[in-house]
Amino acid sequence: MSATRRARELLHAADSVVVLTGAGISADSGVPTFRGVEGLWKQYRPEELATPEAFARDPRLVWEWYGWRRERVTACEPNEAHVALARWARERPGVTIVTQNVDGLHARAATLVEAETDRTAPAEDQPLGPARPLELHGSLFRVRCTECGDRREHRDRVDASSPDALPRCAACGALVRPDVVWFGEALERAVLERAFAAAEAAGVCLVVGTSAIVHPAAGIPAATRRAGGRIVEVNPEPTPLSGAAAVSIRERAAVAVPSILAAG
Ligand code: OAD
Repeated sequence: MSATRRARELLHAADSVVVLTGAGISADSGVPTFRGVEGLWKQYRPEELATPEAFARDPRLVWEWYGWRRERVTACEPNEAHVALARWARERPGVTIVTQNVDGLHARAATLVEAETDRTAPAEDQPLGPARPLELHGSLFRVRCTECGDRREHRDRVDASSPDALPRCAACGALVRPDVVWFGEALERAVLERAFAAAEAAGVCLVVGTSAIVHPAAGIPAATRRAGGRIVEVNPEPTPLSGAAAVSIRERAAVAVPSILAAG
């Protein structure tokens, strides 16, 4: 039996499924990877800018980098894998999409499929529908106040030409920061708990485009397996998870995901 057919059977038989995605699912949309050469900006490595210390030292520089990253992602579109997952989660009960990506492409795919069936498409900041992802590492398109903690969507172009021009909190006027998890910071507990609860309840964990080495996200497939579920992996390359997977599909996400989620 082909790997695709086996994956389809496992997914079909499972009462609930948790999907864990990483940078690889957005590679097919042209989003530059975090650590690849394309991900570099000026002379900096992400590890030098994605930290609370860097923001405290030079918020203008960090915001300039995030402004650049936002523009690059805004120019990309969700691909067939994002859309197929969103449609599937909307049509089939018991699917939870968990992503490590901050690019917002799962949320944009959710908006697209919601528009297919709703007369009025809900905004991306509306409460989670079934196609909405749990964003473990936050989102490039949300900001958080450095003083009062107020969080909200923020899609306007960022003016980082001077410290005075940087985005400010709509509630208290203090400086806001990107609402993403930086190196050395903890993930948001409530989001993590929901992701692990979904993983433990799932008959299958579908892992797409992640090297599956960065914890705690990498523990999600292991949680499904410990609870008696199976792992289905989509990745052109072997990963540390491959040995534990019931099925590994060595294919690009935009090709493999629509195919394994197709009916029949
Ligand atoms: P990585 O860059 O570590 O791994 C990307 C994975 O995608 C690799 O295993 C590739 O083989 C695979 N891949 C590449 N192209 C693909 C395609 N077209 N289809 C499917 N898979 C493909 O990215 P992540 O695993 O997402 O954290 O990295 C996890 C976290 O590490 C990131 O969220 C980030 C980083 O530190 C934070 O910023 C907190």
